[in-house]
Amino acid sequence: MSIRDDFSRWMASVQQRTEAALDSFLPPASQAPTRLHEAMRYAVLGGGKRVRPLLVHAAGRLADAPVDRLDRIASAIEMIHVYSLVHDDMPCMDDDVLRRGKPTVHVEYDQATALLVGDALQTRAFELMAEAQIAESPSAQLDMIALLAAATGSHGMAGGQAIDLAAVGCALDRAELEFMHIRKTGALIRASVLLGARAGRPLADADHERLDHYSKRIGLLFQVVDDILDAQADTATLGKTAGKDAEQGKPTYASLLGLSDARAYAEELFADAQSTLLPLGERGAFLQALAGFIVQRSF
Ligand code: IPE
Ligand code: IPE
Ligand code: MG
Ligand code: MG
Ligand code: MG
Repeated sequence: MSIRDDFSRWMASVQQRTEAALDSFLPPASQAPTRLHEAMRYAVLGGGKRVRPLLVHAAGRLADAPVDRLDRIASAIEMIHVYSLVHDDMPCMDDDVLRRGKPTVHVEYDQATALLVGDALQTRAFELMAEAQIAESPSAQLDMIALLAAATGSHGMAGGQAIDLAAVGCALDRAELEFMHIRKTGALIRASVLLGARAGRPLADADHERLDHYSKRIGLLFQVVDDILDAQADTATLGKTAGKDAEQGKPTYASLLGLSDARAYAEELFADAQSTLLPLGERGAFLQALAGFIVQRSF
């Protein structure tokens, strides 16, 4: 069996177990307040590529991390990611009506519910990180929780989103665009890789360095490809409205460099991520394959 077959089967199995873990970690829709719980489940379940959970599991394998810890970390990060999507789609941000092929939460429910879904998913995520063992020691676990908080907050995802909104209609230069993308998308992708690895035995410093460099490259790569797809793909394939960035005057890699140079930059980031992991050999195979998935994806 080829590595490609192994990877496809592994990917399907992680996506499946992530769905089951999320289902079990979310409050039942029958529990009060039922409308909020139903909306949380609507937002999280049955959609998305689950790239961040895949990264958690792939990095966790490197450190022989127990899979139940990885399910918990993957679910926490996916909940934070979904919170960011629910808020990103609201009228006060990108004002989108379609997400993962379904009406966005504020359209299906209402704005106040969408706001609360984000709030509740974020706090549930940190509860998951704190309420059971996910590391070798309590102090290592505290470090992991702090790392996730930093990646999510004003120096990470939320900060990147603030810059994104402030940049509408502005011509950012390349360094400013990179600063924004590293935060709004890169920070949570990086946290996925690092937290997966930290759930197991400590890695050698050199391996940790390699993993960190890889995580930063694919974090930026992920948003460069998102920018390209927004300009190039269609709404049915994306499951979200295509062409929004240009319509809303968002600075993106596609608008700054043009599609062909943006694609070349994506390939450059991909090659850098790949070569960083080469010394890990077979141990890094799934992380390598995930970088390939991120650069080649069509949605
Ligand atoms: C979309 O993320 C928003 C960005 C951070 C670019 P994904 O492309 O991972 O969305 P889902 O989870 O697959 O829906
Ligand atoms: C969103 O970036 C990043 C976060 C949600 C943190 P985008 O606004 O480009 O994401 P999409 O294209 O709506 O998925
Ligand atoms: Mg946005
Ligand atoms: Mg958006
Ligand atoms: Mg986008």
